[in-house]
Amino acid sequence: MALWGGRFSTGPDEAFKQFNDSLPFDYQLAEQDIIGSVAWAGALKQVNVLNQQEYDDLVAALNKLLDEVKANPQAVAVAGHEDIHSYVESALIDKVGDLAKKLHTGRSRNDQVATDFRLWCRDTAEHILEAIAELKGEFIALAERELGTILPGYTHLQRAQPVLFSHWCMAYVEMLERDESRLSDAKNRMNYCPLGSGALAGTAYPIDRQTLAEGLGFTGATRNSLDAVSDRDFVVELLSCASISMIHLSRMAEDLIFYNSGEAGFIELSDGVTSGSSLMPQKKNPDALELIRGKTGRVFGAFSAMMMTLKALPLAYNKDMQEDKEGLFDAMPTWLACIHMAQACIKGIKVNADKTLAAAKGGHSNATELADYLVAKGIPFREGHHIVGTLVQMAIAQGNNLEDLSLEQFKSVHSIFESDVYPVLEIDACIKARQAQGGTSLEQVTSAIKYAKKNSK
Ligand code: ARG
Repeated sequence: MALWGGRFSTGPDEAFKQFNDSLPFDYQLAEQDIIGSVAWAGALKQVNVLNQQEYDDLVAALNKLLDEVKANPQAVAVAGHEDIHSYVESALIDKVGDLAKKLHTGRSRNDQVATDFRLWCRDTAEHILEAIAELKGEFIALAERELGTILPGYTHLQRAQPVLFSHWCMAYVEMLERDESRLSDAKNRMNYCPLGSGALAGTAYPIDRQTLAEGLGFTGATRNSLDAVSDRDFVVELLSCASISMIHLSRMAEDLIFYNSGEAGFIELSDGVTSGSSLMPQKKNPDALELIRGKTGRVFGAFSAMMMTLKALPLAYNKDMQEDKEGLFDAMPTWLACIHMAQACIKGIKVNADKTLAAAKGGHSNATELADYLVAKGIPFREGHHIVGTLVQMAIAQGNNLEDLSLEQFKSVHSIFESDVYPVLEIDACIKARQAQGGTSLEQVTSAIKYAKKNSK
């Protein structure tokens, strides 16, 4: 049964009905719609539209319906109604007859859907925040496990300077902390209740909207009815949080895919997150990471689609806005699954510390140290840079590292070199020198781990 048949002499075309109906996807709002309806029944009792008995009967029926939809959500999806609001009303009529028809007094599907959707987004944000915290914990555990392992750090995918493997881990903890903070800001901002805004102009019943909002766990009621029914910023913000976080996960995935490659051999992913090739028996492919990288596009696609849907929409509700759901209903579980999968990958990583160390020692990644050595001896950095460049060329020509050049060779480029150059070129010295805040020295990384642990509590 449609909610609006009175003005029409015929029903909708089958093709239009299929095109227009949102129940096949907004059935996911069933719980929120029922919880919102219970709260609305309370508001109607407060303004004497419902007496105590009617309220009790409606709430009992709504709670029963809640159990039913929780037990079998898929059955709701295929029930054939226009949307979740129509479904709930009709299921309620089946239970309590005409009394159910009073529930929509003073309410519109416009403030109803905006409320349901905010409730859904709030719950989802909470789940995702928990998952991010767990992933952060996994990175911190790996950082602690591998404390002391040296990794080549790259710029332009060229070996640049050695870093601690744990420093790499903690870089992702920083990103995840920003993801958390962005998401919890978005959650706080969305936590205002549109219910009681009516179709667009507000409700004509003297409902105490503040109490209604608080009963649903909102911080307060929205302040402008036109905005309240039109606003989908909370969807845009969630998708934006998701997109930025997925960008981080995709970069993590890419780093690890490279570290796991036969060419690098820095890490081995666990069997549990890799798969084989149907043809090549030797292969162990990083599918979990590749999928995380791949799904980033899909999540960002939902974000850009939502932005385009909202662009230039006139106030207040327009049916375009029904397009707010499918992208988010796809993007949020995708994001959550990627966070979980990233955690599984991080948990099972085996680091090959010999290989990372050997790679960090190659590639002349101690060249900066040599320039700093010259600076300490009073040579201007730019000149020192040039001198070291010449030495790097020499080392490349003889297929060696800088520390393998003889003192005579050093002196042939500049007389200032002494045998004290060698300790400076040791890889541990490169790491140790990065003592300023945020650097890769053991002290700095240890304190970053401590800070992150304290922050996670
Ligand atoms: N299914 C609709 C949506 O998701 C609910 C709101 C319908 N409101 C309306 N006036 N047709 O946006």
